Amino acid sequence: MAERSAQSGHEPHDAPAAWGFDSPGGWGGGYGTGSGGGIPDRFGGSSAQQGGVIAVVLLGLARNVWAFGLELGALAVLTAPVVLGAARGWPIVGGLGSGLLLALLLGVGPMRRLAGRARHEAMTRRCWHRAVRALGRANTGAWHGGQVAVRSVARRPAGDVLDVRVPVGGTVADLEKAAEALGVVLEIRQVRVRRDPDNARQARVSLIRRDPLSAAAPAWPHTEAERLSLWEPIPVGVDEDGQPVTLTLPERNVLLGGEPGAGKSAALSLLVATAALDPNVRLHLLDGKLVELAGWAGCADSTAGVQVEDANLLLARLRADMDARYLSLLANRARKVAPDSGLPLHLVVIDELAHYLLNGERKERTLFAELMRDLVARGRAAGIIVIAATQKPQHDVIPTALRDLFGFRWALRCSTPQASDTVLGAGWAGQGHTASDIDSAHRGVGQLLHEGAQPIRLRSHYLDDPTLATIAARAETLRRSVAGQQLTGDTAQQEQTR
Ligand SMILES: Nc1ncnc2c1ncn2[C@@H]1O[C@H](COP(=O)(O)OP(=O)(O)OP(=O)(O)O)[C@@H](O)[C@H]1O
Ligand SMILES: [Mg+2]
Repeated sequence: MAERSAQSGHEPHDAPAAWGFDSPGGWGGGYGTGSGGGIPDRFGGSSAQQGGVIAVVLLGLARNVWAFGLELGALAVLTAPVVLGAARGWPIVGGLGSGLLLALLLGVGPMRRLAGRARHEAMTRRCWHRAVRALGRANTGAWHGGQVAVRSVARRPAGDVLDVRVPVGGTVADLEKAAEALGVVLEIRQVRVRRDPDNARQARVSLIRRDPLSAAAPAWPHTEAERLSLWEPIPVGVDEDGQPVTLTLPERNVLLGGEPGAGKSAALSLLVATAALDPNVRLHLLDGKLVELAGWAGCADSTAGVQVEDANLLLARLRADMDARYLSLLANRARKVAPDSGLPLHLVVIDELAHYLLNGERKERTLFAELMRDLVARGRAAGIIVIAATQKPQHDVIPTALRDLFGFRWALRCSTPQASDTVLGAGWAGQGHTASDIDSAHRGVGQLLHEGAQPIRLRSHYLDDPTLATIAARAETLRRSVAGQQLTGDTAQQEQTR
């Protein structure tokens, strides 16, 4: 009942209880209803008992007819010409009619795909309802019965996504608790329940059948771009549903963490490439490994290598810029840098943050931490964005006063749930969002905590070295040409004023 109602857009959730399909006793629940009353018949049972049995059998039959409505409907349509033909004495015409319908269904691509999708959806709904009923019958404590109506089913690379509605008396929290047990009944990889933030009765349930992130992400959509804007969302990868994931940087700072070789520098390169292709962005590169960001040096306004003193000089200049900007914002009665304010964004990229916090003189290290903290804390409105990658974001490496200021967190593969939590923030691993269960072979897979309420699992796009070199060369040419145009414009203006 619930299945058909959901398909036809009616309220499906209350019907099963009215039909008595979904009592915790399930199919067996109706057998005892007639005991203790009625007139004994000649087979030894009361007529009330017999009536109960017949009712249960009929209801079971009705439910199956309803559940298999799509298949039965298709069968009825396909065989209708044969039946009608036979009734009218034209069996051959009828047979040809049915054959034609079957050929259309199987032979015409869009029809076949439509039928395949509809059948998959019907099967998914049946499996779901069967699993929820089975759990209700098992009375595990996680779910006490009551049908969870399926409003829609969408097929995704990872499996299926169901929009569901819990019955009156139940809660989405109950469903979340039952997720593990439902996964067992369905014999799939995982059941994930996400509550609808706007409706306590609704939830989105992902039936994860396979790891969609085991295959490499598609090519970066901006690989061929001539020019980009750092104000726009940056495509960084695909999520488990195969949907693009984007990151919007202005007014944000990003901390990337993960074990060696997890894909931090590769993920950083997507953000740096975007900034490089925006000639209005001032790029500042701090490369604790010297080679990771070297390809972008031709697009950078300033760079620092392994020396902490150099990094401090760079950050100190930026801080002076930031203070000057706030004065200019104040003079213009503006509160922050906006796309039309004419002030360029500054992108500060630090690969291997821990290097600068662990090496060199203590005084230098302390100064670095203080300059960083100040930039991350106050840089937002001044258009200064800091993105930093590190293998070790633990508090003994990165002061928590600094780490906690990063709004966006991106955890690539980590060795332990605790390590994952140091990147994403305390408590996420306990809620099932951890980068410690990522297969080490799946590089670039991670958990990204950004705009949404919870981290999302994604695989980042990957730019190999030749592609990086091509993009960097294109960005350098673009920047040179824009700088040339600006110079020509400035000279013309000076001559006019003379
Ligand atoms: N998204 C991705 N898709 C496919 N392969 C990737 C991806 N990201 C990284 N890799 C592979 O993993 C390798 C290591 O990546 P990367 O250098 O970014 O790791 P890292 O986390 O920065 O390591 P380290 O901490 O040692 O600097 C890359 O050279 C590349 O071969
Ligand atoms: Mg790296």
